[in-house]
Amino acid sequence: MPLTNLQTRAVETLVHPYTNQATFRDTGPLVLERGKGVYVYDTEGKPYLEGMAGLWCTALGYDNEELVEAAAAQMRKLPFAHLFTAKSHDPGIELAEKLKEIAPVPISKVFFCNSGSEANDSQMKMIWYMNNALGRPNKKKIISRVKAYHGVTIASASLTGLPNNHIDFDLPIARVLHTSCPHHYRFAKDGESEEDFATRCAVELEELILKEGPDTVAAFIAEPVMGAGGVIVPPKTYFPKIMAVCAKYDVFMISDEVICGFGRLGTAFGCTTLNYKPNSISIAKALSSAYLPIGGVMIPEEMYQALITESKKIGTFGHGFTYSGHPVSAAVAIKTLEIYKRDRIFETAAKNAPQFQKRLHALANHPLVGETRGLGLVGGVELSADKRSKTPFDPKKLVGPKLVGFAQAGGLIVRPIGDVISICPPLVIKPAEIDELFDKLAVALDKTLDWAKGEQLLAAA
Ligand SMILES: Cc1ncc(COP(=O)(O)O)c(C=O)c1O
Repeated sequence: MPLTNLQTRAVETLVHPYTNQATFRDTGPLVLERGKGVYVYDTEGKPYLEGMAGLWCTALGYDNEELVEAAAAQMRKLPFAHLFTAKSHDPGIELAEKLKEIAPVPISKVFFCNSGSEANDSQMKMIWYMNNALGRPNKKKIISRVKAYHGVTIASASLTGLPNNHIDFDLPIARVLHTSCPHHYRFAKDGESEEDFATRCAVELEELILKEGPDTVAAFIAEPVMGAGGVIVPPKTYFPKIMAVCAKYDVFMISDEVICGFGRLGTAFGCTTLNYKPNSISIAKALSSAYLPIGGVMIPEEMYQALITESKKIGTFGHGFTYSGHPVSAAVAIKTLEIYKRDRIFETAAKNAPQFQKRLHALANHPLVGETRGLGLVGGVELSADKRSKTPFDPKKLVGPKLVGFAQAGGLIVRPIGDVISICPPLVIKPAEIDELFDKLAVALDKTLDWAKGEQLLAAA
């Protein structure tokens, strides 16, 4: 199909993130124009059920007037004010207070930024700063995990454990290490139980800390459920075992709640569902239901005390973004948190999760599906050329993107992570819409199966 005028303009003007810049010149983008509820509409008026809540973020859907009003009111009152050099504003203060109230662990202060990447960058800088303040300048290495996703800035992309974020970007930077990924289906040994696999992950973390030297390891960072690495739900006992290792070697634990925070797993923060208590927390995305960019780092008292120590020594805390705690973003986030509480959004998500998970896991019987996995209102469907041997498809055949193309043609947006199809709808999705989502996904799976058979991609039966 020839590209439309808007598609051509997009191709000629924009670098689209996470897009194959070469093939994109021929395919062009899907151009969206408006949204309502859990649906978005393209420029031809065709509706799509937004099965990914944008990028795991539009928790309240696409037409929340209260959020629009909150932004407009704040824009009229004070469209910008910063938090630098001892200045403050009401929305920033109130939002920090509200976050402290709902935090799953004792939080002393909140530092605001604009994105998940900036939150994780800030975490890393503050941990280095803290350990300098505490007189342990060698304790600086940060351990992340293979397949983790923590963002794309130089520090956060280094924490990310995915090849495409490293290759030819000359990353990761020094002092960032990656330990094993807690994905039982892919990485467990033959016959290894989930429990034994979780134990091995913890042992491997301990071995890495000992190899590097505990005096050099500052922190461990993890998402409760790994999102952009392929929706990976760890074994039940994984985090308690990992936390014991962190505690043993005085390793600070950062929970990256950029996807799992704010109800995605049915609780306010993912660490509660996964049964661990981090030292600090990164937030973004659903903090404002993505209506405006805002992220944050929720820090404990010991880290705050270190900022005071360093301020006494240096004269200031030399970190912050022009838009840290932007008053309009903060006002929208305050309203978002108010709606979450008033409308019991997390509880409703938790109530709808069994239906979502049931429909997700029913897909496991499909000939193309190797594994289905999920928790709360997030799910992943891993495609496989051979169910029994778990053989993946040749990545060059782009089976996942093919399926996503069929889904899109059928009015459903989901995302391919290689051959894992990720699903993460707005938290306000209704039971009938959950059914519609999975009905459409099942049709796309069948179409992909027919295509894959034609291409002879499946292992012989
Ligand atoms: C767990 C996690 N951390 C950090 C990020 C980076 O956030 P951003 O894209 O806002 O920089 C993401 C983005 O998807 C994420 O999923």
